[in-house]
Amino acid sequence: MTTTTTDEQPTSVAVYPPHPRLVNPEGREKPWVSSMAEYEALYKESIEEPSRFWTRMANETLSWDRPFSQVSQGSLKDGDMAWFPDGRLNVAYNCVDRWASKDPSRVAFLYEADEPGQATKVTYGELLAQVCSLANVLTSFGLRKGETVAIYMPMIPEAAVAMLACARLGLVHTVVFAGFSSSSLAERVADARARVVITADEGLRGGRPIRTKAIVDEALKSCPDVEKVLVFRRTGNESVSFSAPRDVWWHEAVAAQRPYCPPVPVSAEDPLFLLYTSGSTGKPKGVVHTSGGYLLGAGLTLKYVFDIHDGDVFCCTADIGWITGHSYVVYGPLALGATSVIFESVPTYPDASRYWRLVEEHKITQFYTAPTAIRALRRHGDDFVTRCDLSSLRVIGSVGEPINPEAWSWYNEVVGGSRCAVVDTYWQTETGSHVITPLPCATPAKPGSATFPFFGVELAILDPTTGVELEGDDVSGVLAIKRPWPSMARTIAGDHKRFLDTYLNPYPGYYFAGDGASRDADGYYWIRGRVDDVINVSGHRMSTAEVESALIGHKAVAESAVVGAPDELTGQAICAFVTLKDGFETTDVLKGELVKEVRTRIGPIATPKTLILVDELPKTRSGKIIRRILRKVVAGEADQLGDLSTLSDPSILDVLITKVAAAL
Ligand code: WTA
Repeated sequence: MTTTTTDEQPTSVAVYPPHPRLVNPEGREKPWVSSMAEYEALYKESIEEPSRFWTRMANETLSWDRPFSQVSQGSLKDGDMAWFPDGRLNVAYNCVDRWASKDPSRVAFLYEADEPGQATKVTYGELLAQVCSLANVLTSFGLRKGETVAIYMPMIPEAAVAMLACARLGLVHTVVFAGFSSSSLAERVADARARVVITADEGLRGGRPIRTKAIVDEALKSCPDVEKVLVFRRTGNESVSFSAPRDVWWHEAVAAQRPYCPPVPVSAEDPLFLLYTSGSTGKPKGVVHTSGGYLLGAGLTLKYVFDIHDGDVFCCTADIGWITGHSYVVYGPLALGATSVIFESVPTYPDASRYWRLVEEHKITQFYTAPTAIRALRRHGDDFVTRCDLSSLRVIGSVGEPINPEAWSWYNEVVGGSRCAVVDTYWQTETGSHVITPLPCATPAKPGSATFPFFGVELAILDPTTGVELEGDDVSGVLAIKRPWPSMARTIAGDHKRFLDTYLNPYPGYYFAGDGASRDADGYYWIRGRVDDVINVSGHRMSTAEVESALIGHKAVAESAVVGAPDELTGQAICAFVTLKDGFETTDVLKGELVKEVRTRIGPIATPKTLILVDELPKTRSGKIIRRILRKVVAGEADQLGDLSTLSDPSILDVLITKVAAAL
């Protein structure tokens, strides 16, 4: 394992106490937590009396078909954690029926389509009918509890309807981000053993079509087990291919079904979904989340971290293809009966005011996006923001990557008008919901720090080499969690050993997050970035091994090594080093082909920003590529290469450094 963290302690930074208008609101309900003392009391209870704490939270937040008699069992040491194991519930019932029966006209989704000015509403009553009809369609395909359905859709309400229809029947969904290529989709569909794929004819983003159905068709050439493809008509482009009986139009199938379908109660520990994410090795892993613990985590964190109350309009801009979209566009908001915005477009279409017009038009109260978007919009200047009325906002959040203090301050001052809370939320696909985060009306913020653990999360900083826990404040090491929490992933689909080896065995008794972190003199946590071969580009996790194997798939490539290079806009950018086989010449055409190879095999999000053809890669005497050297060189730290005694041919370094300097 290589450590890319810095040992630097954070220098003293400004501290921003919560704005008084949030702590003591006039004419609004009191915040759920309005002081550090209240946070500390609840946190203490969650750690010292977990049964009492989680029983109360699980019963207040969710509705159970059969109550649980035990809160949790199992341990991180054995990897056999279970929460509310004898409880039964239905996730769709919790997310839809509860609110539809109370007030069917309450708005579940506000759908902001790609073209501005075309927003529509989906009420909880409408959502219930849509979810039920679709669930009946899935039943008519012969699907039964426990089977997996793949969803490859644009950001439209029907994507959420598809997820909830699966949940209603106890089916497991696996949503694949619609920016992934056909071969990435095929790999996931095959690994999940899905027999049914739900998609749309096309998507639309920034005025440009995304040919989702054509990509599905291509993927399914290598997935012979898929029997049905359900196609939602989004654009109506008539040239989209359609071959019955495998392909079925959503609108036709739904029209044939009754708009009620009884929810199927499942065990709290039955899987709700698989979500593929990148790890250190080439093959993406299907992270498994459960029905009870996951839903509780998503709902509870949203309630406390964004201080959600009745009548609030919550907007998370993440795509449902990522965990952030699962937890904070769909499951978290609906578990609370809140109104959630589904945003189909991009932040700069038709111009850089799009988000802020959205806030103004829908009177959004909480807004949640990624640092990359904040940095990009900041470059466009303040006018795009200040021309809009953002007075409805109370809490603005950031997720997915470290937020640099400059971007934090701009977000706070220009977007938040210095009168909102900024919540920098740290979590992962595997954690299911926030694990380190401020609470908006309690926690004094320090720009760039995710601050303190959420309820029930017991953090530790370990010495990376010895695994010894570093006690006290002012320490740096790797981040770990000391006890199970309800929304943590339970396994990797079909590969529990990999789950144990990745997260639980590196430091026995701890969940190993894969990030470096420090705890400062005031006990605040600072995330320092990944310590494994995962890189984070615009908040999207990429495995360097996955990009390397895509490059090696090209006939000209002998070897490749991929590292993350610091990038002002995207946090990190993909930098690929390649050596060619004999007989191939370095040309721009070939370079273009190599970049295209990665886009085709993985998808546009994996496009290398820099591709450097070299004669030799730095290697040990036994032939292992030393990526640490490449990382240092691309970070402009060629003068700090450290111990080079294992490098077999130090003479290659000068050429390497010159080439990198010319390329970056
Ligand atoms: C990084 C996204 C710093 C981290 C929810 C983590 C962050 C990885 C933050 C998970 C944050 C996420 N500050 N780094 N607030 N949030 N990360 O699975 O490296 O797509 O391990 O989940 O993103 O990415 P994932």
